[in-house]
Amino acid sequence: MINRSAAPHFRVRDIPIYGDLILAPMDGLSDFPFRSLVRSLGSAMSYTEFINARDVNTKHPHLEHRLTFSEAERPLVYQIFDNDPDDLLKAALKLQLRRPDIIDINMGCPDKSVCGRGAGVGLMTEPLKIAEIFSKLSKTLDVPVTGKIRLGWDADNRNYLEVARIIEENGGQLLAVHGRTRQQGYGGNADWDAIAEVKSALSIPVIGNGDVRTVADIDRIKTHTGCNAVMIGRAAFSNPWIFKRMDRHEVSPEEVRRLVGVQLRTSIDFYGQEHGLVIMRKYVNRYLQPYELTREIRVPLLTCEDPVEFLRRLDEILQQPVPAF
Ligand SMILES: Cc1cc2nc3c(=O)[nH]c(=O)nc-3n(C[C@H](O)[C@H](O)[C@H](O)COP(=O)(O)O)c2cc1C
Repeated sequence: MINRSAAPHFRVRDIPIYGDLILAPMDGLSDFPFRSLVRSLGSAMSYTEFINARDVNTKHPHLEHRLTFSEAERPLVYQIFDNDPDDLLKAALKLQLRRPDIIDINMGCPDKSVCGRGAGVGLMTEPLKIAEIFSKLSKTLDVPVTGKIRLGWDADNRNYLEVARIIEENGGQLLAVHGRTRQQGYGGNADWDAIAEVKSALSIPVIGNGDVRTVADIDRIKTHTGCNAVMIGRAAFSNPWIFKRMDRHEVSPEEVRRLVGVQLRTSIDFYGQEHGLVIMRKYVNRYLQPYELTREIRVPLLTCEDPVEFLRRLDEILQQPVPAF
């Protein structure tokens, strides 16, 4: 559990951060119910899924779910993306009215629909624009402005150090670095040497991100890079208990059942019964990976439409012995 009487691990400007593990923003995964759950397990702060500044500025009707957060999640980071400094500022000013603790600029998304229009990692090809964005936002907003980058566009354009320095010089208060280029997507290995370079070059806190899958990896990336905190994405989807510094094989069936119960309740409260259960399926499918379920057992669980029946089927599965790892 997070001990608030101890000194914070680091600060984002004046905001103390207690803990050194942070759930990565993940579109379609780090929604309010999952974030709340993971925060209760020990993630030190909450990043929302990325938010399209255009949707904020045009008051897109489907945005509300993405913007909802609870007090228990604080410090809460709204992560936004766009290619236009003025549109980003306009959106950030609107979002600030909802009292997030931090506004973060996404400079890492490799999806064509985002980087194709110069947003996400597309911004890394325009360092002057990044300077303008950070300068404008940090001078105008009350909350700290932070960034999340990749290493650059491709192997020939790994300009992470230049971009990192620009972000700091223009008022950025924290930088998360995913150790891959756009070209790498999610393949190959994250380059932790590059994260170490960024950490030594900056005075603001740096979060290391990429390929942390086990508790041992947490210590390895910290030692390798000297980063202030570690951001965990895909591994958290299969093993949210990593925020308690537990590998999946250390988690008891009773704890899996408890956690699914809590997440299902929050999910149903948040999305309504039908959609809340549908959303839960992808998580539970991952939490049950160690059981190597046959189709005959998995399909009825993941197509069932009644929460009580869903939990009954889950209980049956959890009574089976877990195959040896
Ligand atoms: C499904 C999915 C959605 C993602 N959405 C976002 C996002 O909205 N914002 C962001 O900055 N990064 C996003 N990412 C990238 C992650 O935050 C993280 O940088 C990446 O997964 C590497 O960390 P990992 O190796 O721990 O997964 C996403 C990644 C995945 C797999």
